[in-house]
Amino acid sequence: MKSLKILIAPFVVPALLMLAACAPAPAPTAAPVAQPTAAPAAAEPTAAPKPEKLTVLCTPQEDWCQAMTKAFEEQTGIKTSYVRLSSGESLAKLRATKDNPEFSVWWGGPADGFVAAAAEDLLEPYVSPNAADIPAAQKDPNGIWTGVYVGALGFCSNKDVLAQLGVEKPNSWDDLLDPKLKGQVAIAHPASSGTAYTAVWTQVTRLGGIDQAFEYLKQLHQNVLQYTKSGSAPGQMAGRGEVAVAVIFSHDCVKFADEGMTALEVSFPEEGTGYEIGGVALIKNAPEPEAAKMWIDWVLTAQAQEIGPTVKSYQLPTNPNAKVSERSVKLSEVKLVDYNFDEAGKNRKAITQRFEDEITVAPQ
Ligand code: G6P
Repeated sequence: MKSLKILIAPFVVPALLMLAACAPAPAPTAAPVAQPTAAPAAAEPTAAPKPEKLTVLCTPQEDWCQAMTKAFEEQTGIKTSYVRLSSGESLAKLRATKDNPEFSVWWGGPADGFVAAAAEDLLEPYVSPNAADIPAAQKDPNGIWTGVYVGALGFCSNKDVLAQLGVEKPNSWDDLLDPKLKGQVAIAHPASSGTAYTAVWTQVTRLGGIDQAFEYLKQLHQNVLQYTKSGSAPGQMAGRGEVAVAVIFSHDCVKFADEGMTALEVSFPEEGTGYEIGGVALIKNAPEPEAAKMWIDWVLTAQAQEIGPTVKSYQLPTNPNAKVSERSVKLSEVKLVDYNFDEAGKNRKAITQRFEDEITVAPQ
């Protein structure tokens, strides 16, 4: 397992090599202006009060959410808390609390979830000055979302279980349809999970249409033991030997392997796989908009993007100046499908509904 690497296609990676200058995050606060001695004729602008707290809607792994909010709080003095929710759960929450949002900023999870949120008018565009450092392909030009990490979807197999079943590690989407893998595949439900939705849209892309994707997903369903709520949970099921193969982001598989699930190994489908650009966005009618903007500025810096590997979250940074962990990246090849985040996001609601209607309802 020690030689396990995530391989990323050359057309995603070059952006990581760009040596763009890293703009520092703006200073956390402005000093209060002196009070005028005489009453002014008209109201004068005053400096905004220092933000005191921030609530982050956080979609990546729990320990990464913790490490990021702790570091931000230490650096800014802003009391920062988070709630961890999967992408689809986040969308549902934002929709339900639209008129009185609990969260000010949404950090992490595939960009198509952000596109879906924007289509429902749940986000507020914000172009951070630090977004200038992020490659154009990894951000929305209007600041609806900005990319904070990248990672490829893969197969996460338990090699001991595969050996018992007499099955080779999967190298193709069709390998998952092997009758010997009946009840041996786990994947999240696309209504709740951005990871699973990435897997579904990958089928749409590689097979050339939504109907074709559903044909494949119905066949895959024959082998699926369980659809989980969270995207990475199937990797832990595979790690515990409950299933042979999980369809998850490859970086999550490496994380679980490094955390002790040493029977896990990553492989990729030769037809091509999907990938995510994890995003960050300001929430519409955010209760703490200034603190949320500071968070967005900060998560785009190289320094903030180097925190992930300290908690074994090995996604690729989007800031080309951030150091890349040797556990996360091997600059080599994963064949990627031409994943269109905009199209994927716009179709999210209809496709996840169809998944519930034709395959199975979302886990509660
Ligand atoms: C995990 C991955 C992230 C991904 C997220 C999506 O946390 O590490 O890279 O963005 O899953 O979560 P979800 O539960 O919605 O699939």
